[in-house]
Amino acid sequence: MGRYIPDQIIDEIAARADIVDVVQSYIPSLQHAGSRWKACCPFHQEKTPSFIVNPTSNTFHCFGCGKGGNVFTFVMMIENLQFPDAAQMLARKYNVIIPEPEHRHSGKKDKEAAEAAYNLRERVFLLHEKLAAWYRANLVNGSAAKAAEYFKTRRMDPVFAERFMIGAAPDLWDGMIQWAKREGFTIEEMKEARLVSESRQTPGKFFDFFRNRLIFPIWNEQGRVVGFSARQIDPEQGGGKYVNSSESVIFKKSRILYGLNFARQEIAKKGFAVICEGQMDVIAMHSAGCANAVAAQGTAFGNEQAMILHRHTENITLALDSDSAGVNAILKDAAILLPLGFTLKVARFPGGKDPDELLKNAGAEAVRKAVEDAEDFFAFLLARESENQDLAQPAVKTRIAEKLLKFIMLPESEVARDSYIQWLAAKLGLEAKAMLAEVRRISAKEARKNRFQHGAHERRKPEAESTAPPPDTLPESVANPLLAKALAELLEVILSDSDAADFVKAELPPEMLDNGPFAVAVETVIQSRMNDEWEDAPAVIARRLIGCEFDCGPLSAVLAAEPRKHSRSYCAKTAGDCLKRIRILFVEKQLRELKKNFAATPPGAERNELLKKTVELTRALNALNHPRLREKATSGKRYLLPDDTATTDAAATD
Ligand code: CTP
Ligand code: MN
Repeated sequence: MGRYIPDQIIDEIAARADIVDVVQSYIPSLQHAGSRWKACCPFHQEKTPSFIVNPTSNTFHCFGCGKGGNVFTFVMMIENLQFPDAAQMLARKYNVIIPEPEHRHSGKKDKEAAEAAYNLRERVFLLHEKLAAWYRANLVNGSAAKAAEYFKTRRMDPVFAERFMIGAAPDLWDGMIQWAKREGFTIEEMKEARLVSESRQTPGKFFDFFRNRLIFPIWNEQGRVVGFSARQIDPEQGGGKYVNSSESVIFKKSRILYGLNFARQEIAKKGFAVICEGQMDVIAMHSAGCANAVAAQGTAFGNEQAMILHRHTENITLALDSDSAGVNAILKDAAILLPLGFTLKVARFPGGKDPDELLKNAGAEAVRKAVEDAEDFFAFLLARESENQDLAQPAVKTRIAEKLLKFIMLPESEVARDSYIQWLAAKLGLEAKAMLAEVRRISAKEARKNRFQHGAHERRKPEAESTAPPPDTLPESVANPLLAKALAELLEVILSDSDAADFVKAELPPEMLDNGPFAVAVETVIQSRMNDEWEDAPAVIARRLIGCEFDCGPLSAVLAAEPRKHSRSYCAKTAGDCLKRIRILFVEKQLRELKKNFAATPPGAERNELLKKTVELTRALNALNHPRLREKATSGKRYLLPDDTATTDAAATD
């Protein structure tokens, strides 16, 4: 549970955070479907939506990839955050105030360490936010004269310079450091933010990382400044044309699409996104009325960025530079984007090398037109390959067909592939049949190789690293799939039938429920029956599992499923059957542990005691497996629970 944010605050956040609202802010395509909401899953690639949000239980679940959980889990997965950071993010969004650490806990060491790391991260965020404003002020108020002079030559629309907070780093060794100190930031915090460099000659002496440059703040999708990109203002100055923030606790370059925070609404509205190479291009696009533009910042567009974009749209117009690097980037991006199901277009900029130049040279209308006139990627590729070629020659046709087919085979959709094959056949004056033969020749193996070379094979890799603890620390209900299944089935019937819930309340010893998600859920239903709030059980379960460290995906599947109305006899029979399986598995687990201890115990009284218990348990197990033996084996009701083991797996009941 909520490690160092007090539970009542977590509850408060959970109560205020509307999961539909939160999910929709990431997946604008989330749509009403009956009592629930549906979309294509943001965590894996799919064509038909199997990602369900259930506002009643405040949970989500993907029936395709099995991921699921509550509003906190969702934010953790999609932002790749730890629980406290996800909670903090939601708290901010829903105006819940998290009290200062001093008042929060009694001061255990590890809690303090976690708290410190957490606060440092927040400080790094704050430093970035304030620094962006300071850089901006430098540019506006003339304290960075050289940068301001250079900036004029870029002729940026002032409205957009303000929106994108273009700033300037002064021509000083430690202008930023002095400012940050006045603002109360420590060198440690500046180091953590990667905003200072340490002198090699004089260790302990620091200077500004960004000096005498034009500054572009980099935002994350939620609109928080996480880094900077800094352009030189004089070609003679060292350090390259652009210098970018190094990765930090808040900045992971491969997960950032520059401008997405400003572009997301327009992407949803227009139904496609424009991808540019650089910040200047994005700003040019936005100024020209194409506010659906984002940049990968450089030519490398990666899988993670593709997956992020996939939450917003499946249609992309590539607006990359016209130079050879730009054209190579188009092919590289296509190899990543096509297998993910994106439809690709390519925009050309005949009047300049990139959108920024086109805007300067030819005006906003020309930029808009370039985007409107973007041609289909395959048409672009065909035109490029046929340039200066004699298409009358069969060998030339074959070569071009081969080149295009490598890309045509990338989309997963057979319909898409087929229609492009037909199209290409017609274009080259070849028979579609012959093309299909060619497709077969370029075997599936080769297609895989092609994907592999371009890194697209990673496309199914989940975004968030698993935070699951190592297997030996897993509760039995998580580690043992048979137990998980029995509990899942049991949960389903006790959620749909109150008699079954009562039966389980009477018959299932609490010791058999550990702290795995299904066990907690079953226990919650039992409790809700006692508290006379059985109808609310799904919502209570969702809340109890906030911050749960185990995979709640399978559980959310049960919670998200449309409630089924089972017959009472089915429920009674299923509940009885599940209980029996749970008991057997429980005894089996105890036996396993006993045997392990037995092997490790030297002969003697202790070992004899273990042997006795083993015999007892074995008999109990036999009795469970063969009911007719039951009376013989024991007489008491709790025959399967030797006293001293009754608490070993006690459920975490708050
Ligand atoms: N880039 C970078 N490091 C470099 C060069 C480029 O990170 N040394 C990234 C920047 O995000 C830049 C993008 O790649 O915006 C595109 O590079 P380029 O086409 O060279 O820059 P332009 O966008 O044309 O920038 P400008 O118009 O300022 O020359
Ligand atoms: Mn440019």
